[in-house]
Amino acid sequence: ESSPIWMATVSAPTNIACIKYWGKKDAKWNTPTNDSVSVTLDQKDLRAVTTAAASIKFEKDRLWLNGEEEVGASDSKRFRACVDGVKALAADPSKWKDLKIHVSSYNTFPTAAGLASSAAGYAALVAALAELMSAKETYQGQLTTIARQGSGSACRSLYGGFVAWKAGSAEVSTEGGTPWADSMAVQIADENHWPELRAVIMVVSDEKKDTSSTAGMSTSVATSTLLQHRIAKVVPERMASIEKAFLEKDFESFGELTMKDSNQFHSVCADTYPPIFYMNDVSRTIVRIVHAYNKWAGETRVAYTYDAGPNAVLYTLEKYVVEVGALMAHYFPSPATATTAAAADGYFNDSTF
Ligand code: PMV
Repeated sequence: ESSPIWMATVSAPTNIACIKYWGKKDAKWNTPTNDSVSVTLDQKDLRAVTTAAASIKFEKDRLWLNGEEEVGASDSKRFRACVDGVKALAADPSKWKDLKIHVSSYNTFPTAAGLASSAAGYAALVAALAELMSAKETYQGQLTTIARQGSGSACRSLYGGFVAWKAGSAEVSTEGGTPWADSMAVQIADENHWPELRAVIMVVSDEKKDTSSTAGMSTSVATSTLLQHRIAKVVPERMASIEKAFLEKDFESFGELTMKDSNQFHSVCADTYPPIFYMNDVSRTIVRIVHAYNKWAGETRVAYTYDAGPNAVLYTLEKYVVEVGALMAHYFPSPATATTAAAADGYFNDSTF
């Protein structure tokens, strides 16, 4: 007797924050201490491709990452939050309630090297599950509140363009039967707003980072006084300024705010006790080259940003991509520089799925 296997495959891009998320307000709900905002990159280079399948024949939930099974992953809090969260929004919840889910996901870029692989991974997981079960949001942004519980930054990858993650009040409500906290991603501008914007990715190292973002954030929240200043005094103003800069396509301001925020995030890491170092000597050399080049140009043509790893993401404009690529290739003559167009479609306004 045959029993069907239902399947859905989606692809989700990574996103690179301009104003960084660093700090959890509530560990259980994975709500942040501050707002953040990022550009969703396009699907060409940096993405996760994820298939979710369900069948009455499956005995338990299972997860494969890049072809290898993650034993025990299906019991992890993050995976459970995503699967159970989307199941609750299924168009026909009774159909999926007792079915076990198999998930297979591939990254097209280094995992856990500070290129937001978890953002693409959990966004793709939630999007694949949502496709599979024809999940319906009861309010806009609800799927992003589920993705957030996989990895905070993942909530921003469900939309394309320029996407903010609002910290929200972090209060938990059980309205509608499923508990949730009102911290969600919001699209500020879509992927067509600033088509000239580009991101150049410089893979400085593809090794796994030694301090996970979760561990790093918790030590920073506990020990860094600079982080408290950042949350109270710096981020609110920067969020308003960078949203304005993006909407006005003002690269000068956008670039300056992005670089300053990357620098402050890594200063918070240095202010954490014991300190955390994600950037290395090559990362810092790139910072110097960027400033020297912008000074020579008499304007901000390129802006760096670094997440929890040594790899650089350089935001620039289409007209400078070749020059920036040539500049970096001059100092680092290796084939490891990839360019990618920025501001792609996300799950919600997209025709590629
Ligand atoms: O959500 P996580 O655990 O991937 O943390 C992301 C933290 C940063 O990449 C450093 C900043 C950000 O906003 O993406």
